[in-house]
Amino acid sequence: MPRVPSEAFRAPKGVHDVLPPESGTWAELVARFADRAARSGYGLIISPVFEHIEVFQRVGEHTDVVSKEMYELTDKGGRILALRPEGTASVVRAYVQHRPTAPWKVWYVAPNFRYERAQKGRYRQHWQLGVEALGVDDPALDVEVIALLDGFYRDLGLTGVTLALNSMGDAESRPGYVAALRDHLLRHAAALGTEFRERVDANPLRVLDTKVPEWQEVVEHAPQLTEHLSDASRVHFEQVQEGLQALGIAYELAPRLVRGFDYYTRTTFEFQTDALDAAQNALGGGGRFDGLAEAMGGPPTPGIGFGAGIERLVLALEAGGSAAPSLRRLDAFVINGLGEVGSTKATLLVSDLREEGLGADRAYGGRSVNAQWKVADRSGARFGVMLGRDEAARDAVAVKDLESGDQVEVPEKELGTWLSDRRAGRSDATR
Ligand code: HAM
Repeated sequence: MPRVPSEAFRAPKGVHDVLPPESGTWAELVARFADRAARSGYGLIISPVFEHIEVFQRVGEHTDVVSKEMYELTDKGGRILALRPEGTASVVRAYVQHRPTAPWKVWYVAPNFRYERAQKGRYRQHWQLGVEALGVDDPALDVEVIALLDGFYRDLGLTGVTLALNSMGDAESRPGYVAALRDHLLRHAAALGTEFRERVDANPLRVLDTKVPEWQEVVEHAPQLTEHLSDASRVHFEQVQEGLQALGIAYELAPRLVRGFDYYTRTTFEFQTDALDAAQNALGGGGRFDGLAEAMGGPPTPGIGFGAGIERLVLALEAGGSAAPSLRRLDAFVINGLGEVGSTKATLLVSDLREEGLGADRAYGGRSVNAQWKVADRSGARFGVMLGRDEAARDAVAVKDLESGDQVEVPEKELGTWLSDRRAGRSDATR
């Protein structure tokens, strides 16, 4: 067999494995998000990782994500496909295909693929938790969607998070604004080079959130979207703000928040964290996409949603020093001090504990008691449960708090209840 370079057996640049114990945090984040979404009436959608390329071209031919960063492939049948760069397009494609009854509220946890310059907080495969709600243009829905993400972050104890809010206007207000913006930008185009000019020609909105320092001054003095809203868009935006205020959700108006896709209309928002560099400070964001279903051949259907990066959330939790929530730890690690005959007893004990809803594990392979205690320490379990000869004579087990080292004896048949009480905080560690 030809020699394979060792690089081949490493994850490609910009992608990563998520391993225990960090993956425990991921599982907990997903579980909490799922619970919150379900409590607000959202059902899970699982959509394919790749689609016909046109699905994504609809969300922004003039955006970097679609025109420069997409993973495109041709399958063996000659179909031109693309790996999903974001979640909204697939959800809307599914809506148009299946025509579920509106309002249709779905949530997802899904990987997305973008050929980006890989750095901390920016990856070529990243994961998003998100929701999309279709079929309703009531501002109460905008408020619900924003509140869902706000509540999720608040629950996690994240600090240093700001909610930026804008309205992108609608089909009625946008053309007038875009014309005024283009005029303003073109007046400065000669000095700013061909790339600037090309962007303005393609879609002047795409220049508004530029990170290019030389462009920023011109952009800062550009006319603002919110000054050009149609009456309907203005009223909608005011109602969204009133709703957020009623719920006590703080926000900052961000007139240049256009976000990275062409589908946005009216409400757009982004939760930004001060824990990450400015280029990666968006924790999660979204907005309305009232024209997208129609652009995919469906009936005119308003919609709103958001996507929230999991990797960035984990980084922000770490940076903020808040204990990242972790999937519940093992309650007990069973140590067999009875030799060969004890192995079946240990199997039965962990099995019983697991059936009782507790987390339990054990060592394998007839290792010494000392070695088993070491595995117990590494396991992260709260208690070590020792099957010892003396205790066995009394139908009991020795239970050791693996943090404090305190030890007590517990009748074997009461072990499940004893551990459950500790889990529920009904009793001090080993008392
Ligand atoms: P987005 O702003 O492109 O929006 O991505 C949403 C979130 O995904 C970002 O705020 C960020 O946390 C995370 N993210 C994006 N790209 C990367 C990356 N390369 N590495 C790590 N994290 C990343 C969307 O994707 C829209 N589909 C959101 C939406 C849903 N709008 C309406 N509905």
